[in-house]
Amino acid sequence: MKRKELISVFGSDLGDLEISAVVDCMQSQWPGFGKQVQEFEDSLMNRLGLSSFAMVDSGSNALYLAAHLLDLPPGSEVIVPSFTWVSCAQAVLMANLKPVFCDVDALTMNVRREHVEACLSPRTAAIMVIHYAGLPVDIDPILDLGLPVIEDAAHAVDSFSKGRPCGGIGDVGIYSFDAIKNLTTGEGGGITARDQTTIDRAKQLRYCGVGKSGFEAATSSSGTHQRWWEYTISEPFIKMLPTNIAAAIGIAQLTRLNALQARRKAIWNLYQDGLEAIPEVTLPQDAPIDDQHSYFTFCIRVNRRDELAHALLDENIYTTLRYHPLHLNQLYGQTDRHLKNSEKLNEEALSIPLHPRLSNADVDRVIFSIRDFFSR
Ligand SMILES: Cc1ncc(COP(=O)(O)O)c(C=O)c1O
Repeated sequence: MKRKELISVFGSDLGDLEISAVVDCMQSQWPGFGKQVQEFEDSLMNRLGLSSFAMVDSGSNALYLAAHLLDLPPGSEVIVPSFTWVSCAQAVLMANLKPVFCDVDALTMNVRREHVEACLSPRTAAIMVIHYAGLPVDIDPILDLGLPVIEDAAHAVDSFSKGRPCGGIGDVGIYSFDAIKNLTTGEGGGITARDQTTIDRAKQLRYCGVGKSGFEAATSSSGTHQRWWEYTISEPFIKMLPTNIAAAIGIAQLTRLNALQARRKAIWNLYQDGLEAIPEVTLPQDAPIDDQHSYFTFCIRVNRRDELAHALLDENIYTTLRYHPLHLNQLYGQTDRHLKNSEKLNEEALSIPLHPRLSNADVDRVIFSIRDFFSR
């Protein structure tokens, strides 16, 4: 029997606009860092309502940059939800800080103030929050703790909490534009901050800490720099410059973002309607009325999770778990901690396919296969 076509769990939607943006960029003979990056930064700030933003080459590097920019005492603790991607912990460690893993809510899969409070110590210097799947974290009670907050909005481009853009609420916030995100640039990421000086600093750091070059000074209107090949270096740092090619894809994606988001929401609604009658399935939470979800992933909870994932794979429907809880990894030395909800999610959570290229027939196939599994 002919195998059914694969339905992948994540994906992006790239069309003629993105293709011609890349071609234009190649034809300009300047594929690296340049004016398209600035244009993307301005357009994203405008679309999301951010006051500052710097693009970098990945969300992971943006997290490292964010942790570095807070200037926290070396060795101090950053509370990080365990139910998140490895970059969150790696960034903290790379910035010479210590991640302390906290639990999340089993229904929203987001951190709440009480989870943070359970991990506070005299060494706590900052808190990281992740808007899981694009559902805004209830962030105000966490901000009220008075510690710097790093906001991971990797899933949350176009998520809003009481009218404020997720990512732009805490002290520093980051986005990811990797290949499966709501807005993709192939690989890419970015950072925003409450104050512009932090972003001015981020823009130097992303280029090995190099400040204004003599060339810029010499070619600016007031420029009198005779040795334009000289530059100042503000502090040691690595290079995380984005490319014009990536930014050009991002500019095209931004012009299509409303339509891409509408498609994600439509698929989300089809799943809600199609799966709500199955008592064994706990559906993900939508955003409260004052907030806006970005519908990055549709993560259900079921008791026979592994069996369901295998049954769907037999139907050529690929699903996955985001994320294997960080505290369960030997590397971080916190396997003795018991984080009840994260561990429960590790056994029960499953992301089913959600991306803008899915057809209604694909979604129906997923719903039918899940119904079929539970009716057996
Ligand atoms: C919650 C979260 N934070 C950070 C990242 C890192 O982003 P990137 O893949 O752009 O490095 C990801 C990537 O999936 C993520 O899911």
